[in-house]
Amino acid sequence: MNKFARIIGTGSYLPPTVITNDDLAKTINTTNEWIVARTGIKQRHKVTNETTCDLAEKAANRALEMAGINVKDLDLIILATTTADKIFPATATILQTAIGASCPAFDLQSVCSGFIFALTTAEQYIKASAANKVLVVGSETLSRIVNWNDRSTAVLFGDGAGAVVLSGSDNTGILYSKLFSDGKYLSSLQVSNNYINEVGFIEMSGNEVFKIAVNRLSSLAEKTLKETNLNSNKLDWIVPHQANIRIISAVAKRIKTPMNKVIVTLENHGNTSAASIPLALDTAVRDGRIKRGDYLLFEGIGAGFSWGSILIQF
Ligand code: COA
Repeated sequence: MNKFARIIGTGSYLPPTVITNDDLAKTINTTNEWIVARTGIKQRHKVTNETTCDLAEKAANRALEMAGINVKDLDLIILATTTADKIFPATATILQTAIGASCPAFDLQSVCSGFIFALTTAEQYIKASAANKVLVVGSETLSRIVNWNDRSTAVLFGDGAGAVVLSGSDNTGILYSKLFSDGKYLSSLQVSNNYINEVGFIEMSGNEVFKIAVNRLSSLAEKTLKETNLNSNKLDWIVPHQANIRIISAVAKRIKTPMNKVIVTLENHGNTSAASIPLALDTAVRDGRIKRGDYLLFEGIGAGFSWGSILIQF
């Protein structure tokens, strides 16, 4: 039996087209100042022709390269996405063929907490020795479901992908993970179609989502440190879901962690849903901030609501 699931490679990808806040202000009634002050977001990336699988493929190949393993050694692929390329087959199976893997592959849908749910699922496979090498990807083309005329949501979201390769380890890795769901909040944040006639768009009560996010994530961050007996000054980095700088800083404040120990990349790409945590992680691994042995806290919440946290020794 493997004792731990350990991240051995990270990768990410953002499509080249950038939409700045000023670009948005040309078509909707908003300003760069409002968006930066209320969210921290300065720009987002948007696909032109690329699919969710295309973004996932680029992020996955970068993670596999860093991990230094042969793609044929993968035992499982889990793709967290809310913007699957087709109703079926699973985008994960399209990705499997694109990267040349031959293992089982499935999609997991838990909106903005998708990466945390997927990583926790992969961890369980590894700890049960049902798999030893697992690729976990978060990839989104949210621009396809954003109502670009709705200023209360259009400014928030973007496209992108992030990936990790996990391996069984006897020494260290994921130390703790906890997931929650509460389906009462359907009308607070949803895409209103039901696949029948049309593609729907994101609808959100921003203020309500904001309060619930701060409340649930702060309590969960506290609980995570308490249950792992980790004093917050031992925590090296929070790698949060990148939705809003005010949510991120409220959670950090609650667990007495200064903002210079929080990885923030949302100014560059906005809320990329299931892709946002692995995007932030990969950025900070590649720029040298996150080092082997560091204690990392991942936390995030998404529609449902579903939320979760993971504590890792990297
Ligand atoms: N530009 C300018 N004004 C805007 C605007 C925009 N893009 N969007 C909304 N406003 C206006 C509102 O119409 C409102 O005007 P009013 O007071 O005249 O009615 C005012 O700004 C305040 O709106 P409010 O919704 O209370 O602002 P807020 O401080 O809550 O910020 C969000 C709005 C969406 C940024 C914030 O609620 C948020 O981030 N919520 C969480 C969203 C999220 O993270 N969702 C994903 C979870 S995974």
